[in-house]
Amino acid sequence: HRAEPCTVVIFGATGDLTHRKLIPAFYNIAAEGDLPPQFKVVGFARRDKTDEVFRAELETGNRQNSRQGHNDELWKSFSQSIHYHRSEFEDLEGYKALGRLLDQFDAERGAPANRLFYLAAAPEAFKPILEMIRAAGLNEGKGGKWARVVCEKPFGKDLASAQSLNSVVAATFAEKDTYRIDHYLGKETAQNIMVLRFANSIFEPNWNSRYIDHVQITCAENLGMEGGRGGYYDTAGALRDMVQNHLFQLLTLVAMEPPTDLSADSVRDEKVKVIRALRPLVGPEAVGKNVVRAQYTAGSVNGVARVGYRQEDRVNPESQTEPYVALRLMIDTWRWQGVPFYIRVGKQLPKKATEISVHFKRPPQVPFATAGMLKNSENTLVIRIQPDEGIALRILCKQPGQAMRMQQVKMDFRYSSSFGKASPEAYERLLLDAVAGDATLFARRDEVENAWKFIDEIEKAWHKSDTPPTMHEYPAGSWGPKAADDLLRADGREWRLL
Ligand code: BG6
Repeated sequence: HRAEPCTVVIFGATGDLTHRKLIPAFYNIAAEGDLPPQFKVVGFARRDKTDEVFRAELETGNRQNSRQGHNDELWKSFSQSIHYHRSEFEDLEGYKALGRLLDQFDAERGAPANRLFYLAAAPEAFKPILEMIRAAGLNEGKGGKWARVVCEKPFGKDLASAQSLNSVVAATFAEKDTYRIDHYLGKETAQNIMVLRFANSIFEPNWNSRYIDHVQITCAENLGMEGGRGGYYDTAGALRDMVQNHLFQLLTLVAMEPPTDLSADSVRDEKVKVIRALRPLVGPEAVGKNVVRAQYTAGSVNGVARVGYRQEDRVNPESQTEPYVALRLMIDTWRWQGVPFYIRVGKQLPKKATEISVHFKRPPQVPFATAGMLKNSENTLVIRIQPDEGIALRILCKQPGQAMRMQQVKMDFRYSSSFGKASPEAYERLLLDAVAGDATLFARRDEVENAWKFIDEIEKAWHKSDTPPTMHEYPAGSWGPKAADDLLRADGREWRLL
């Protein structure tokens, strides 16, 4: 499929995502020589702009964000494929004009091309855009070519809104032509989880409640609400912005059963089973016991002063939105009985780091261990999603010397030293997959809806109960609220130090 001509239409093309991620991804795909032939991008947005001005703006973005740098020659030829189309999102005439533009491109190519519609606009614009695409007949591929849609996140803000968005999508595109993007699935390290588990005979036999004590997933960010992000973020919070999508995707990859093959549906069938097996957290008491929400107060991150969450630009000074959340999750399957999965994600933490750590049970008896020595002495498999991508296995060894002392040491695999070249960006992989018709790394309708179903109960306990669980606090630049440490301490465990 990749070898067929293709036009991509980006809705919301003047936004941040287009400048920071989408265009640099296409540019890098071009640098690798993997762009479909006779490729074109049309930016669709409200503001008035010429192709030239649009290209110049994107060039600035590409200079700052391209993974492989910016080559003037390559940009010059690549940018010739970029066009701008001005229209309101609700104006049918604008879509009809878009159709004529796409037809004109087809005429220049001498044959119809595939069409990929990319929804990168504000979430409230998704529905009108889809309705207009359908009203203008653009959802039907021309001359036997396909038309597909890629939906950016957030995909709804609760179950009801996700269902209603899904029904508009379904009225416009078949599920097989619908690509709900979750860029965490495009990360090399996330894709590698399946290979690590299912291609290595030493891990999978131990990958269950008999050998695993618990699993931790941490996603730390050292940023706050920069770049006017507070406006959107304050309506979402960490649970909706990160857990419902990215963190649940990582969780399913760690917890899923082996798929029978690598087809999109086999993989997604197994992933959705994990989400459905999450033990529901219903009511303020269960939520209070298993979920910790918090806001940062003023502090400093790496020596730079930061304001508190409620003082951030475009954030409500009385906001009840959580930029930090930690959860204890149980997965009610045979494999995971009694194994807690702890997830924490937050803004304004000391550093940017996403990792999964699998903590194995200790041997039944350790003759060398003296009291105190057992702390932090379990076998741990650490999957570093980003940065410093790699996998480390922590094992116990004898400290050299006369005494029989144990010490934890680390066997480490690093992408940077094992593979000669840098990995492609998540968006490069996902855009090419959407063009090639491979939906394996995209969220399916039932996956998204089941995830919201679980998340909705927590939001309900927080915002719609008479006895809502506490909103905790942590100074910016610290590792989160004390309550999150207590969550693990109650189980006799600790967060891994990052
Ligand atoms: C986005 C969230 O989906 O992912 C942001 O909306 C977050 O709040 C970002 O910062 C993190 O992505 P990455 O790839 O930098 O870990």
